[in-house]
Amino acid sequence: MKSMDKSAFYRDLARQLEALLGAETNRIANAANAAALIYHALPDLNWAGFYFRHGDELVLGPFQGKPACVRIPIGKGVCGTSAARREAVLVPDVHAFPGHIACDPGSRSELVVPLVENGSVSGVLDLDSPQPSRFDDTDRQGCERLVALFLARSR
Ligand code: SME
Repeated sequence: MKSMDKSAFYRDLARQLEALLGAETNRIANAANAAALIYHALPDLNWAGFYFRHGDELVLGPFQGKPACVRIPIGKGVCGTSAARREAVLVPDVHAFPGHIACDPGSRSELVVPLVENGSVSGVLDLDSPQPSRFDDTDRQGCERLVALFLARSR
C-alpha cells in the first residue's frame, strides 16, 4: 500500500470506528470492537488488542489473535517500553529488540501505541505482524488517531 493510499485507508478506518462505537462509552466494549475492527481491516496482522495499566503492570484486555501474555511490567517488552516512554514504539524486527516478549513466535514486527490520558498512560494498543517491517510511520499516525478516538469515546 502506498503511503497516500494508507493515509486515506486510516481516515476511512477512523470513520468506521466512530460509527461502530456510536454513543457507547463502555471502555471494555469499545476496546473489544476496536480490536476486532483493526484486526480484520489491517492486512497481515496476527494479533491486535489492548493492555490496560494496573499499577506498575499492563494487564491483558480485549484482543483478537492467539492467547497472549497476561501481565507485562511497565518498562518491559515493546508494550512496557511504549508505556514507560509514553510514545509509540515501532519495531521492524522483534528479534532485534532487546527484551521483546514473544507471546507468539510467529510475530516478526510490532507497533505499540500508548493510551495517554491527562498526561498518564492508561494502557496500550498493540499490533503484531508475521511480516518483518510491516508497520511504518503512516501506520503509527493512523493508529494514534484510532487510539485518540477510542479514548475520547470511552469512560
Ligand atoms: N510482544 C509484546 C507482548 C505482547 S504480545 O505481542 C501480544 C511485547 O514485547 O511487549
